[in-house]
Amino acid sequence: MKILMVCLGNICRSPMAEGIMRKLGGNKILVDSAGTAGYHIGSQPDKRMIKMAFEHGIDISKLRARQFQADDFDLFDVIFAMDSSNYRNIISLAKDDNDKQKVKMILENGNVPDPYYGGDEGFEHVYQLLHEACQNFLDNIE
Ligand code: 4NP
Repeated sequence: MKILMVCLGNICRSPMAEGIMRKLGGNKILVDSAGTAGYHIGSQPDKRMIKMAFEHGIDISKLRARQFQADDFDLFDVIFAMDSSNYRNIISLAKDDNDKQKVKMILENGNVPDPYYGGDEGFEHVYQLLHEACQNFLDNIE
């Protein structure tokens, strides 16, 4: 199964989600991430997110940001949005209902908060939310 994690900048939430899903999913899952915005194309994940991932045994330092594009609908089976704004932006690029059905919110109830402008506790919270969401997803596809 091929999964794409999508947030706004592709430097905080979606690279963390990518790292967690890769670790938990093993060889069952192929995973990538992207941002709906292009501001950070080519950038390494945010230093604070790299550190938080590392503390949980995950190396996301080699990932580089890229922008979500319409072709991604053809390359992935499931596209996870981190928040409702990401969701709307992804859906706006869908060409048909088949594309739209691939797009899901990663949390059942609400948004993964954007940690970019906050403190370290925001990054830990994002890690916890994403870890639980990825584990739930994997438990349900088995
Ligand atoms: P992300 O966080 O969407 O989780 O990667 C953000 C990173 C950068 C910006 C916003 C959100 N920014 O405005 O530059």
